[in-house]
Parts: sequence; C-alpha cells; structure tokens
Amino acid sequence: MKVICTEKSQILATSLARALKTPVVEVKYSRFPDGEQYLIAGELDDETIIVGSLVDNDTLVQLILLIDACDSSHNQLVVPYMGYARQDKRFREGEPISARAIAQVLSRGVSEVITVNIHEEEVLNYFSVPARNISLARDVGSYIELLNLSNPLILAPDEGARTFAEQVASAGGWDFDHLEKTRLSGVEVKMAPKQLCAAARSVVIVDDIISTGGTIATASSMLYKQGAKEVFAACVHGVLTGGAYVHLMAAGIREVICSDTIERGCSKIPAANRIAESIKKTDVQKHKKV
Ligand code: R5P
Repeated sequence: MKVICTEKSQILATSLARALKTPVVEVKYSRFPDGEQYLIAGELDDETIIVGSLVDNDTLVQLILLIDACDSSHNQLVVPYMGYARQDKRFREGEPISARAIAQVLSRGVSEVITVNIHEEEVLNYFSVPARNISLARDVGSYIELLNLSNPLILAPDEGARTFAEQVASAGGWDFDHLEKTRLSGVEVKMAPKQLCAAARSVVIVDDIISTGGTIATASSMLYKQGAKEVFAACVHGVLTGGAYVHLMAAGIREVICSDTIERGCSKIPAANRIAESIKKTDVQKHKKV
C-alpha cells in the first residue's frame, strides 16, 4: 500500500502515511504552456490511498488525474475537506447540485471514499462507491483542553452546528449551547446564546467551516458586549477566504484554531491519526469477512 497526494495536502498525506507505516509516492506537478496541468507519479503500488482536500478547482483536476494515474491499483480516496458540499441541493431552479456532480466525478476509479466532517452527511450518498465520514470533534475538544480555560462555554454559531458543539464539549464535560439570532429592527440583529449566559466566561465558538469568518466575527463582537471574558474560534476546515483570519482577530478572537484538512498556519489539529484509525479499522473488518 502507498499514499499519493495533491499539492495542497502534502503535510496531511505524509502524516497519514507515517501513521499507516506506508510510503508516499512522489509526484511531479507542472503545467503545459497553455496552463493545463500535468503530473507524473513515481513508482506506484497495487493498493493506493489518494489524498486531496478539495480546496480549489486545480485540486479537483489533480485528484482526477491522480486517480487516472493509479488506474491499475485498488484505490481508496481520502478527501479531508470536501469542497462544493454546501451546494448539496438545488436551492433555486437552474442551479446544479454541485456536491452530486463532484462526488460522481470522484467516484470513478476508486473503490471507497473517506471524508472528514463533511458539511452534510447526505452528500456521501452522491458517491457511487461506499463513502464514510469521520469527525474531528473529539480532537477539537482535546485541543481546547490544552488551553486550560476555566469553565469554558462551547458555542455553536447556529442550531445546525449544535451537535458538533456538544461533541466538542463532551471532551471536557463543558457547557455548550448555540447562538440564536433575534431581529431587533430592519437593520439590527442580536446574537446571543439560546439558554446560557456568556458573561465573564471563556467562550469557544466551534463550527465545521470558517469561510469568510463573518459569522464568528459578528458573534464574537456581540459576545464581548454581553460580557464574555475572551472568545476563541475553532473549526475543522479553515477555508479562511478573503482576509478571514485578520477579520477574526480584529473582532477580538484570542486564537483561531483549525485542523490540517486545509493546511494553514493556524492548523493545530492533525487529522491523520483519526483517518488512519478509520482505514485500519475497515481493513480489519474486510479481513474478518474473507
Ligand atoms: C455553513 O453552513 C457552515 O457551517 C459555516 O457556518 C459557514 O461556512 C461559515 O461561513 P463564514 O465563515 O463565511 O461566516
């Protein structure tokens, strides 16, 4: 078995290979003069774990090309950050179901797919091969434990992320809640914890994705007005688009914490061990069935 990866998932893929005690295939990436991508892989194996977070369109092409380069191998695909998963429905007439379109393309040439904290688990059904999702909620909780906060309050930015907040909070038996929006006027919206009070507390806002940081920055400013002692932001996928990190810092966030499903300077939570655990577990199950 060997691991192979896209350009933007090198660190996670190498850690995964180390956790699985298996080599990484070197890949040379370049472009043709017209901008088309080219790659050439080193010595391949008859069993390959292909790793690539869907962080941009170039990565999507790299994944398609890698899967094709490994076409004489039994391939497992690991997509730690499944981009396009938020467009999981046709919200308006004329739209594509982007998650379905991407999942179908990536299913060709692989025997199974693993994602990490995919935005909607239903998206897994769009792959035409078995697909499963693993969660880093416990790992986010373990990182928060290292911060040694006294009696932290774990907050989801909305009700949809409440279960994730609950799972994170279970790491330390901490309080958790979700933020509720109340419209005060045509232009004014208040965000506050639904049941608990943030005053004098260390608050950690947790979500699957931080994209523009807008949701958490607004929440942070409001929580400080409600007397919060300090506010942290933690997520699995640090998309951090358009100056999001600076925006969060300007809103008084003490620390931005994310995993390395997207490799960033603030990637403090490694995903490799959890992915390796899942791969090893299914390998054991497969061997039991034989
Ligand atoms: C959306 O449903 C996700 O779970 C996140 O809440 C969202 O992507 C955060 O977006 P932003 O950082 O742009 O506020």
